[in-house]
Amino acid sequence: MSEGAQKKQEKARKFQAIRGTRDLLPPDTALWNHVEQMAREVFSTFGYGEIRPPIFEATELFARGVGGDTDIVSKEMFRLQDLPEEELTQRLAYLQTMISYSAVSPSDGEPLLREFVARVIEFIDSYRSASQKGLVHRTESNDRRLSYLESHLGGLKGLENESGQRNFPYKLAETTNYFKVEIRDIALTEPKVLRPEATASVCRAYIEHNMQQWPQPVKLYYIGPMFRRERPQKGRYRQFYQIGAEVLEAVRPDAAKDAGKELAKDAAVDAEVIEMLMTFFERIGLQGTELSVNSIGHAADNCRRGYVDALREELQKVKEQLGADSQRRIETNPLRVLDSKLEHEQAIIAKLPHIADHLCDECKTHYAELKRQLDLRGVVYKENWRLVRGLDYYMRTTFEITARGLGSQDAVCGGGRYDGLVELLGGPPTKGIGFAIGEDRVILSLQEQQGKEVASGDWRAASSRTSIDVYVTWMGANNYATALHAAKMLRANGFRVDMPTMELKFGKALERASKLNARFAVILGDNEVQSGEWTVKNLADGSQQKLTEAALLEYLRR
Ligand code: HAM
Repeated sequence: MSEGAQKKQEKARKFQAIRGTRDLLPPDTALWNHVEQMAREVFSTFGYGEIRPPIFEATELFARGVGGDTDIVSKEMFRLQDLPEEELTQRLAYLQTMISYSAVSPSDGEPLLREFVARVIEFIDSYRSASQKGLVHRTESNDRRLSYLESHLGGLKGLENESGQRNFPYKLAETTNYFKVEIRDIALTEPKVLRPEATASVCRAYIEHNMQQWPQPVKLYYIGPMFRRERPQKGRYRQFYQIGAEVLEAVRPDAAKDAGKELAKDAAVDAEVIEMLMTFFERIGLQGTELSVNSIGHAADNCRRGYVDALREELQKVKEQLGADSQRRIETNPLRVLDSKLEHEQAIIAKLPHIADHLCDECKTHYAELKRQLDLRGVVYKENWRLVRGLDYYMRTTFEITARGLGSQDAVCGGGRYDGLVELLGGPPTKGIGFAIGEDRVILSLQEQQGKEVASGDWRAASSRTSIDVYVTWMGANNYATALHAAKMLRANGFRVDMPTMELKFGKALERASKLNARFAVILGDNEVQSGEWTVKNLADGSQQKLTEAALLEYLRR
């Protein structure tokens, strides 16, 4: 292809939203806003305040918080490439690229090797001095790599004298490759990712802002986008939106004295969180929701450990009948086998031991109390012993809500208790419980409902809110100023107003008004402007009258 043709083709490229992302457009966005508004209203009646954490965070926060072995962390995070800002670190980044991609072949002769060695030496020296100045990100693995480089530097330098030897080509390739790989993997800036979820962020914020000093418990909610590199399909996106809430509470120093009371209190908090969630779903009119609950026991060293061991033992016996994913999970995280959706594994899983038979007395008490509290609050639920959830931080309570019309991606909300997560992230002993609603799925389910003309709440009114109330139009350039004044006055009084940017003929103006779904048209010609009595036309019934400015407002309000 000629250069000109190529340029033309590049120019003609149609940009599209990146795979797994999408534009949310009117009138749908009115429904999104309505759902978010309902969440704000319901959550605030339960005493929650809003938190807006950043959209990107340190990779380590999720690796530690959510768990390095989880799908979310090991496969699905979007990493950000962040370039250094200082001159010294920019030089380091340059050297890092040059070293990682340089080819030093035996036939190139010594000058190239000498250049490679010089760059490595400069890299090591610059890294050390940048590190002393606090300009580079220091981690254990960076330190380990640097020590390795320093201790092998002599060998690299000595290569120059071995060029005549028989195994020189092999040694050259091996040594320079080591250096290339080690230097390539040094993180000059702190690795960052787009957040795959926000619970870890909220815990980080709790620690960072000393929220243990705030009145306890701290109740927070958030609304915003999350990012996971999953295979896109209906209800599953790479940028999706969550409405989440978290309750965090510092563990009282004397909590152990009255363990029974403490357990009952925790169960009541869990039940209240779930009650709030169900109130929200009721408020937005989402039908066909089903709440499942489970208890997955206490931290790894207590009853959960016993259960996991028993599960692993049983799974080993049926290993050959399981798929590759489940086989791998027998070692890494046997609980996740229970999540399997593979048809042929279902009968096998049904025969596996149940966690309920392994719960310790404390977990049993907590779970029984949770169910009693849910009953007291009139929350309908079913128990699902297989509900383990795909994040590492849960303990005791887990829950999930499914809705209709979503196909395989039917979970509209997931949550659970995560005592100890704040501590794991370097904070004080803290209890936690929360959930996240998948807003995209809630909207899909509501729209599905709308399609089937199922009776609904007031969200349908919200969808139509993008249409306008009044279309203001004028005839004659002299009357334009009055039209501008009318639009301004009506907007100041809360009406949704549109007006053309150019004068339109009467018929054209009415046509435009009805296309915009306007309810009224205000028409300003010479007569109207001179008399101060404006013509208003009701576009639904075609009736028309002349009213003063004050009377018009009164009329529209009615
Ligand atoms: P999660 O189960 O990973 O939990 O996500 C919660 C909800 O987000 C899911 O039930 C689903 O509705 C929605 N969701 C997840 N991934 C996608 C996707 N790729 N596309 C569309 N929707 C999706 C958490 O994120 C935990 N942080 C919840 C939590 C809060 N636990 C305690 N506190």
